[in-house]
Amino acid sequence: MSTPSLLILPGDGIGPEVMTEVRKIIDWYGAKRDLQFDVSEDLVGGIAYDKHGVPLTDETMAKAQEADAVLLGAVGGPQYDNLDFSLKPERGLLRLRKEMDLFSNLRPAQCFDALADFSSLKRDVVAGLDIMIVRELTSGVYFGEPRGVSVNANGEREGVNTQRYTESEIARVARSAFELAKRRGNKVCSMEKANVMESGVLWREVVQEVHDKEYPEVELSHMYADAGGMQLCRWPKQFDVIVTDNLFGDLLSDVAAMLTGSLGMLPSASLGAPMENGRPKALYEPVHGSAPDIAGQGKANPIACILSFAMALRYSFDQGAEADRLEAAVEKVLAEGLRTADLMGPEGGTPVSTSQMGDAIVAALDASL
Ligand code: NAD
Ligand code: IPM
Ligand code: MN
Repeated sequence: MSTPSLLILPGDGIGPEVMTEVRKIIDWYGAKRDLQFDVSEDLVGGIAYDKHGVPLTDETMAKAQEADAVLLGAVGGPQYDNLDFSLKPERGLLRLRKEMDLFSNLRPAQCFDALADFSSLKRDVVAGLDIMIVRELTSGVYFGEPRGVSVNANGEREGVNTQRYTESEIARVARSAFELAKRRGNKVCSMEKANVMESGVLWREVVQEVHDKEYPEVELSHMYADAGGMQLCRWPKQFDVIVTDNLFGDLLSDVAAMLTGSLGMLPSASLGAPMENGRPKALYEPVHGSAPDIAGQGKANPIACILSFAMALRYSFDQGAEADRLEAAVEKVLAEGLRTADLMGPEGGTPVSTSQMGDAIVAALDASL
């Protein structure tokens, strides 16, 4: 097989900082495990706007379409807040998701034992937690038409966004959740607001139909998304796989982040339908953003981005054992007490910078050989 291609888009803020650490990991796999990647790097977000006047050029979009996997840091920053919507850094990311048709966004929330006391919830509630949120990523209110701000008949400004889902869009993300559940705890909880939204009623019906016809052996439950947020904080271990729409998934995955201790811990994989080679189109990125408040200070936690690369090893490159190795290396440095600033609590630990954390994970990989 030819060397798989990996397109790296570091983006803005802490994106390039955490990506520098991922590059160390990629280099390690090349040198020590003979896993070679054809790596190229390009611009997305505010940095692309600064250079090209758009948050994603057509050339970069085409490269992403051709890559075996894309790895993205983060986009955005306060200096871009007043740009027209079509030029905002976030549009670059949304275009990648939409045009690559990455409808299934896997956001695992795992609580590493070493961080169980650090979560804002009690140890008992989070210790051993391992849940997977599957967020629909290419439809819903993020993309529905009509949208925009206009002046209405009363002369008032009016903002409009539209929640819209077709049954095929719901069915395909539901299938991806059931498939994952079969390889995990065999349980799916679907979340919507069927009590107030017609699209939520359709969501519930279609998920149930897919279940009954194709996955009757998987345990399925339904929950209103607001109650789901509450249950995630009350007793998150009741869940295995959660499947939900684009906006609710965005909110619920940030909630889930805090179960693991920090937003700096949560990776994600955005997957499309399988291509001819049997692998999905894929983009991997941390759940966190560009963190303008800490950018440029060496404080960012690179683990979310490093664990996103582990997901790439697992879902794009058939290297599940190497993904396990990388996750174990992260677990080891956390168990040794190494803590970036976001992980420092009253229980202490050894404070480390972004690059020290990356180096320690590389050392833990070395120790695993
Ligand atoms: P954010 O995730 O950037 O930051 C929220 C808080 O978490 C901040 O206090 C930040 O310092 C902290 N944090 C985030 N990641 C961290 C890490 N790796 N290590 C340590 N601390 C970390 O969210 P925000 O402040 O709401 O948004 C900032 C910008 O990022 C906005 O422009 C937003 O649109 C963008 N954003 C981008 C993505 C993405 O690229 N996927 C995701 C979310 C937000
Ligand atoms: C995320 C982010 C994005 C989203 C933004 C940056 C477009 O918050 O990936 O969670 O809302 O999907
Ligand atoms: Mn988000």
